[in-house]
This record gives sequence, C-alpha cells and structure tokens, in this order.
Amino acid sequence: MRVVIVEDAEAAGRRAAEEIADLVRRKPNAVLGLATGGTPVRCYHELVRMHREEGLDFSQVHTFNLDEYLGLAPDHPQSYRYFMQSHLFQHINVPQENTHLPDGLTKDVDATCQQYEEQIRSAGGIDIQLLGIGSDGHIAFNEPGSSLASRTRLKSLTAETIRDNARFFGSEADVPQLAITTGVGTILESRVCLMLATGQQKATAVREAIEGAVSARVTASALQLHPQSIAVLDEAAAAELDFADYYRRAEQLRESLRGAS
Ligand code: F6R
Repeated sequence: MRVVIVEDAEAAGRRAAEEIADLVRRKPNAVLGLATGGTPVRCYHELVRMHREEGLDFSQVHTFNLDEYLGLAPDHPQSYRYFMQSHLFQHINVPQENTHLPDGLTKDVDATCQQYEEQIRSAGGIDIQLLGIGSDGHIAFNEPGSSLASRTRLKSLTAETIRDNARFFGSEADVPQLAITTGVGTILESRVCLMLATGQQKATAVREAIEGAVSARVTASALQLHPQSIAVLDEAAAAELDFADYYRRAEQLRESLRGAS
C-alpha cells in the first residue's frame, strides 16, 4: 500500500481531492466511489472549490456511495443521501440521476443489494473508491468478522460504531443498528482505493490496517491485497506506524523522480 503522510486533516482532505480531480480531468466520465462521515468533508469542500474556481466538471461523472442506513429516508438529516446532497452534490454539476446510494427504505433488501452491484457493473466499475476507516478498522460498514469476499448486503453495526456515530445523531439510541453496505469484495474491485484517515483516534486502526495481518478482524487490512491502494493520513493518524519514516522517504523519492522526468 502506498502511504502518504501529510501535516494535518486539512492537507489530507486537499490531497484526496487532488487525486479525485486528476482522475476527473483525465477521464471526464469517471465513476467515483464515495464515502460519508466526518473524514471526507474537507475533501468534498475542496472538490466544490475546484468546481467553482477552476471549473472542475462533473457533468459526465457517475457516483456510487458505500452505504446507507436502513430505515432512513433520503431527506432524513442523518441519512447518507442527505449528507451527500448537502456536502457535495448540490454544489457541483453532477446530474442527480448519476448519483447512487443504496435505498435505505427498500422493502426488499436482497433485491436492492443485487441491483446496486449490477448498477456499479453496468457503469463500468468504480475508478476510484474513497474510504474512511472506523475506529474498529471497518471500511464501509464491513464490521469485524465480515467476509473479505463480501458483496453488498445488510450488516448490523457494532456497539463501537454505534457509539462513534452517535455524535451525528445526538444519542446512541437514535443510531440505526442496520445498514446496507457494499462488501469488501465489491470495494476491492475498484481500480484505485484511497483510504483517508485523520486524527489520533484512528491511529491504532490505521496501524493494524496497513502494517497488521490481513484479517477479517480489521476489514481495512484487505486493502493490502489491492494493487493500487493509497492511504492518505495526517500526522496524528500515522502516529503508531512502525515504518512512517520509510513511507515519508519513499514519497520524497517518488516526488524527485516525478520532478526529474
Ligand atoms: C461511511 C463509511 C464508514 C466511515 C467510517 C469513518 O460511508 O463507510 O466506513 O468511513 O465509519 O467515519 P468517520 O469519517 O466519521 O470517522
């Protein structure tokens, strides 16, 4: 896994946005895999800025989000659809019909999950998948114990995730216990996986994901099996990495090679 360590959360968000913007410039009809939560907010603000100030064009882009809470309507302020509308979609020129999230109000979960996989496939697959990481090491809502070959399906959230996400809802009791999530197998089929992690509360999960054993205990560790995965970390999230100095030096070398070419 390529590991990019930057100074703070602001710089991490900018770095992730640059990766996405580079892709959209090279491939205007790119398929973006998107995440919600606190971590990607700065990345989305930067993409909005690039759209407004630099004319970054999303008119042919398609998006697929990782997950949605079961039982929340799209206009529920804590639904992931609402999050995406307010942080990104309504501020850029992506056509609404090109944006996809699992239907949290579905009456037929299995059919919805299958259909979501088919929609991703028929869009040509995901070009870049933006990911956060849970403090229990999850990607999307693939909680500890999830199959590393899993596909889109219904998952129950762990007590730790419910506790973590209570900050958005006001209380733990209000956090839905179930979500529709893309699987680890679905995520690994993306052409590039970009995991963004910021803050000291993610440092242990980040170490286990990047330098620990590949294990269903920490589903983010499955990214080690992906040939094109990048972790963008701020100093706080990188604090427990054994090989942080090596990753920094490798990035400097990569930069100097780029400068020389
Ligand atoms: C959100 C998602 C989750 C979050 C993770 C980290 O779509 O799939 O895996 O990325 O829970 O959340 P934050 O960024 O709020 O710490």
